[in-house]
Amino acid sequence: MREFKKIVSEEGLMRVREMLSGHIPQIKPAYRYYIAVEDGKIKGCVGLKRQTWYMTEIKHLYVKEEYRNQGIGNFLVKEVLKRIKAPVVCCTIAGSNDSNDWSCWIFEGVGFSKRETFVNPDTGHTVSFLTVNMDVVREDQRREVES
Ligand SMILES: CC(C)(COP(=O)(O)OP(=O)(O)OC[C@H]1O[C@@H](n2cnc3c(N)ncnc32)[C@H](O)[C@@H]1OP(=O)(O)O)[C@@H](O)C(=O)NCCC(=O)NCCS
Repeated sequence: MREFKKIVSEEGLMRVREMLSGHIPQIKPAYRYYIAVEDGKIKGCVGLKRQTWYMTEIKHLYVKEEYRNQGIGNFLVKEVLKRIKAPVVCCTIAGSNDSNDWSCWIFEGVGFSKRETFVNPDTGHTVSFLTVNMDVVREDQRREVES
C-alpha cells in the first residue's frame, strides 16, 4: 500500500536529505516535508513552504529514479494539496528536460496554470511560475470522492 506521511523527526529529515542529495543541494528545516512510502521504502518526497498568509509553495518534489513513472509524483502532489490551507498554491519548474515536462503535466493535471516564465540569472535556466486557486482543487477533490 502506498502511504503519505509527514516527516516529524530529525531522523526522517535525514533520510529525505539523503534522498535529495545530488539533486537539491539543501533541504530547509523551515519547510514541511512529506514522503511517499511503499513496501517500507521511501520512494519520493515533497516539501511545503509558507510564503505568506494567502500563498504556500510546493518545493522539492522528487521521486527516486527507480520508482518513476508509477504515479508517485502525481500521488505526492495530490496528497500534499489536501494539507494546504492557504487559498493560493504556487510552484516553479526550472530548466527543460523530461523530468520538467513530467512535473509540468503533474501540476497542470491538478489545475495549476503557468503565470510567468523568466530566466534565473544565477543558473541561466528558464523558470516557469505556476499557481492554482485552492477552490478549484477542492472542487475537483470533492468530485473525485463522489465519483
Ligand atoms: C518529476 C517527477 C517528480 C515525476 O515523478 P513520477 O513519479 O515519475 O511521476 P508520475 O509517475 O506521477 O508521472 C507524471 C507524468 O509523467 C509521465 N512520466 C513519468 N515518467 C515517465 C517516463 N520515464 N517516460 C514517459 N513518461 C513519464 C507519466 O506518464 C505521467 O503522465 P500522465 O499523468 O499523463 O500519465 C520525477 O521525474 C522526479 O523526481 N524528477 C526529478 C526532480 C524534478 O524534476 N522535480 C520537479 C521539480 S518541480
